[in-house]
Amino acid sequence: MNFKSTLFFIAGLAMILASCANGKPVRNVESPDGKIGVQFSMVEGQATYEVLFNGKKVIEPSTLGFDFQNMPSIEKGWKIVSSQLSSNNSTWEMQWGEKKVVVDNFNQLVLNLEEEQAPNRKMNLVFKVYNDGLGFRYEFPEQEAMKEAMITDENTQFNLTGDHKVWWIPGDWDIYEHLYHTTSLTGIDAIALRSNDNLAQTHIPENAVNTPVTMKTAEGVYLSFHEANLTDYAGMTLKVNKEKLMLESELVGSDRTGYKVKRAVPFNTPWRTIQISENAGGLIESDLIVNLNEPNKIGSVDYFKPMKYVGIWWDMHLGTKSWDLASGKHGATTKYAKELIDFASENKIGGILVEGWNTGWEHWIGFEDREGVFDFVTPYKDYDLKEVVRYGKEKGVELIMHHETSAAPRTYNQQMDTAYQLMNSLGIHSVKTGYVGKIIPKGEYHHGQWMVNNYRRAVETGAKYKVAVNAHEPIKATGLRRTYPNIISREGLRGQEFNAWASDGGNPPEHLSIVAFTRMLAGPIDYTPGIFNIKLTPNKPNNQVNTTLAQQLALYVVINSPIQMVPDLIENYKGNPAFQFIRDVAVTWETSKVLNGEVGDFVTIARKDRNSENWFVGSITDENARDMNIDLNFLTAGKKYKATLYLDGKDAQWDQNPTEFQILNKEVDNTSKLEYHLAEGGGAAISLIEL
Ligand code: NOJ
Ligand code: CA
Repeated sequence: MNFKSTLFFIAGLAMILASCANGKPVRNVESPDGKIGVQFSMVEGQATYEVLFNGKKVIEPSTLGFDFQNMPSIEKGWKIVSSQLSSNNSTWEMQWGEKKVVVDNFNQLVLNLEEEQAPNRKMNLVFKVYNDGLGFRYEFPEQEAMKEAMITDENTQFNLTGDHKVWWIPGDWDIYEHLYHTTSLTGIDAIALRSNDNLAQTHIPENAVNTPVTMKTAEGVYLSFHEANLTDYAGMTLKVNKEKLMLESELVGSDRTGYKVKRAVPFNTPWRTIQISENAGGLIESDLIVNLNEPNKIGSVDYFKPMKYVGIWWDMHLGTKSWDLASGKHGATTKYAKELIDFASENKIGGILVEGWNTGWEHWIGFEDREGVFDFVTPYKDYDLKEVVRYGKEKGVELIMHHETSAAPRTYNQQMDTAYQLMNSLGIHSVKTGYVGKIIPKGEYHHGQWMVNNYRRAVETGAKYKVAVNAHEPIKATGLRRTYPNIISREGLRGQEFNAWASDGGNPPEHLSIVAFTRMLAGPIDYTPGIFNIKLTPNKPNNQVNTTLAQQLALYVVINSPIQMVPDLIENYKGNPAFQFIRDVAVTWETSKVLNGEVGDFVTIARKDRNSENWFVGSITDENARDMNIDLNFLTAGKKYKATLYLDGKDAQWDQNPTEFQILNKEVDNTSKLEYHLAEGGGAAISLIEL
């Protein structure tokens, strides 16, 4: 491992300007490149920060504090006891992911604060400022005055400089599977989205948004707000204050306890993060969220191989097969699994997911009491788990386990050791988990502290039994894949499945052009791209995928994930020349570059395979057609490549003619440029194979 670390203290250097502006104590810290500046001050004894970018304010003075159930609030009446500046410039390696080497370069300001009156509680604030944004967190050191914190509200403000354009989903405490909305800040109305026929669970108590939430200022600065290292704490939504043009933290709560977070002191909160960029693509290239997490705690996860996977899955969403046995159209049979394994093995696809393999599905959806229903070790009688594993091994295809918990985590926890031990004993190294429905016990929410800890239990148990986890209906990604690289991917957005059954017409053509600049900033996505039968004929006359086929290919590059599903029914792939792109495309990368993009409109990403000299490029657009002109200067100088372009056909269009495509071949090098057209709702996928 190429790890170099230089940690040094530079208190007293020019970077720290400890001063007193208008009598209030002030401390400053800047990003290594000097473009981002944070100014911290005590305003009437309340911790307050503001942020500058290129010399102009991007965050107006914003206050920090807490309300508690078991002690007075933290707000005014505090002072700075001491402060320290330090700096770090090191690198670390991702075991899999969008790049191999990550640069971790920041300047840090620690503020030791104390209450001026008895009981003289203590709290530290830590700001880490990177070239791509900043994070700050609250730290509660061990002290006599505070043994336990029962937090009813965290009062972190993000005071904006204008009524910015915002790409947002509502601050739902139970699910992130909402369409993105594009409005001004003052146009945000999450309350209007409270009823949603397509969701099995939803709870939107405030006019708030979930994170990452991305915005663009009138001056053209891009900002995205999120959190990093969400550990033993509640997820944070951001409440919209239209009068003050401000976002304020609104933690996800619990109806059972009255508080939102309970922690023994000492403890630290998650990092509150602001990514800042001059261009939209800079947000995608940012490493802020992973950098704000702790280094790897579980060692090598080489048992997990980044891969593409087929599945007994889309059939169920199309309604042609079912998860349960009683329906008479059970999907998870040994026979069908073997058919898919054969197809995977012939096409360099490393995995197979089988949903509906275990007993309990008869009581899945719509049942109030789902406790004790699912069994995570007992297969249905037409599915021979051991035989499927054995056959897969023979063909070089690994089974991906499936655990739908039906949002009854206590039942899951009871069986967890046994279930993960079973995977370990069979040599199964990944599991897709699901948490569909209202959480049992009633009063808990998917994104609250209790569930954050339940999701973590699965990850830690996975680490113990060499199992990687891909959670659906998850808690959001906050960069924990750095600490636990067995967190491989997750859902946490409106995935492809909505196109099969949503009553609102599915995900619109602009969906992924927003997702790339919002949800994807949090971490890898199990979106399940690659549907070729766009119109879903003959099964779903009223639903369809709202992109062209070429865009479905491009998503394998645009979407970052070390597992990518190849979800369509295999008869839709067989004999289609476009399938060659899916066979060829890599899933783990040496490096990634965003070549162009605008939030909600289009994006082009180039990624270099981790295991070869080959590059792959994906472009997608919204409902507007566009012409692209990309420079291949990222290719290695002196090498020749065979470029294969999978483009929208001349008359392609996402609704009228989604499956027309063309394939062009060219020899290129790092002096070449490529020009191509994207249809309405279209895309382009390009492989660059070293000659
Ligand atoms: C919801 C998941 O997102 C989907 O992929 C899965 O098929 C169902 N739950 C059943 O677990
Ligand atoms: Ca889902």
